[in-house]
Amino acid sequence: MSGFVVRRVSGLKGSVYILGDKSVAHRAIIFGALSKGKTVIENFPFNEDCLSTVAVFKQLGISINKRTESVIEVKGNGLYGLKKAVSPIFVGESGTTFRLMTGLLAGQGFKTELVAGKALSGRPMLRVTRPLRLMGADIAGCRRNRDEYPPFTIQGKDLHSITYRLPVASAQVKGAILLAGLYASGKTKVIEQMATRDHTERMMQLFKAKFSAKGNVAMVRGGVELVSPRKIYVPADISSAAFFMVAAAIIPGSEITIKNVILNPSRMGIIHVLKRMGVRLTIKGKMCQGPGKGKKVSGGEPMGDIVVRSSILKATTISKYEVPSLIDEIPVLMVAAALAKGKTVFEGVHELRVKETDRICSMTENLRKMGGKILVSKVGGSERIEILGTGLRGAQVKSFGDHRTAMSMIVAGLAAAGLVRIDDISCIKKSFPGFVKVIAGLTGK
Ligand code: S3P
Repeated sequence: MSGFVVRRVSGLKGSVYILGDKSVAHRAIIFGALSKGKTVIENFPFNEDCLSTVAVFKQLGISINKRTESVIEVKGNGLYGLKKAVSPIFVGESGTTFRLMTGLLAGQGFKTELVAGKALSGRPMLRVTRPLRLMGADIAGCRRNRDEYPPFTIQGKDLHSITYRLPVASAQVKGAILLAGLYASGKTKVIEQMATRDHTERMMQLFKAKFSAKGNVAMVRGGVELVSPRKIYVPADISSAAFFMVAAAIIPGSEITIKNVILNPSRMGIIHVLKRMGVRLTIKGKMCQGPGKGKKVSGGEPMGDIVVRSSILKATTISKYEVPSLIDEIPVLMVAAALAKGKTVFEGVHELRVKETDRICSMTENLRKMGGKILVSKVGGSERIEILGTGLRGAQVKSFGDHRTAMSMIVAGLAAAGLVRIDDISCIKKSFPGFVKVIAGLTGK
């Protein structure tokens, strides 16, 4: 049988530098393109998703050049300097690119067609178009099943500001509205009921937009040119670091250091949960670098090193309020839960159904094949997952074409009793080309 085979290893050891944060990198390209002059972005993750954002801006007339294996340079033309694309723009499978660009393109002086890949064309977009239409946007998408899907035809319009309370906890939706707000008359306000990652807001501050945030309200005034900090260092992606953190925690004899990881409070859920689960995890050298402070400008983001040692894990409950701070880490946390003592509960996880794949289905099916005891139930308008820590055995599993499911199954295979065979792991390049090599480097083989 074909596929990728993973065997149990005896311990992970060493230090790793991993790719820059995907969410920050998308926004660094966007803001670099919207400000005048050069922005050099260091530790840029050249993965499929971030390259989608690069390709989109190239088609909108922005010059973007790869300088080295980890550095990219954007030459922006100012807030009103984008040009009409000569043909429809293909966004691939990057949901963040599609949603953020929908907001941005709604306020341009031209028409754009945004086309998505097969899986992304099945992901819900009404959450973005609804608030943008309230701002005066003219977007035609594909309506079906009481939602809206790509492709989109976006006819740029003069937008006006709105005050919008987010019904879905989504940083992509918040970001799309704030980007549209850069072009709207007046002050656009987004109110969150549950805090989501705040990279758009931090980038707005870094690029000197007329932006302010108070409690759960983010505000931006339109029509104001941005000013680039010229250099941005993208800290390592905590969502990618999560695979290493869990692997080191569950594989006996491990001790690893993950360097320069983003330590933004809105992304720290994984760290809080692993600590509650008894994982021996420490953070070293936390620093916050803004313009003019320290050696590097890290996109206005704090960063530091994370040290993880193998641990005896115990169960915990992840509340619905924590979910946005670890939404992409839930698949690998489900692996940790299957190896922890007791019953781990994930509350309010319905958003997992509309990620790259239905991650409740993909992870439940895989972990059950490996002997996991999992119960999924509906609670109110949401869903809940309960996992009884029973240990994991070898099995034939599937990636479902989803990068985070694939990497979670590799982590599971490194600790399971027996061979794990994954049907196809090529999807990993969406966020982390080189993942297998980096993790293999820590096994000493
Ligand atoms: C992202 C936000 C999250 C996350 C995605 C990246 C972003 O999605 O799952 O991988 O960069 O804004 P939602 O905002 O839809 O929850």
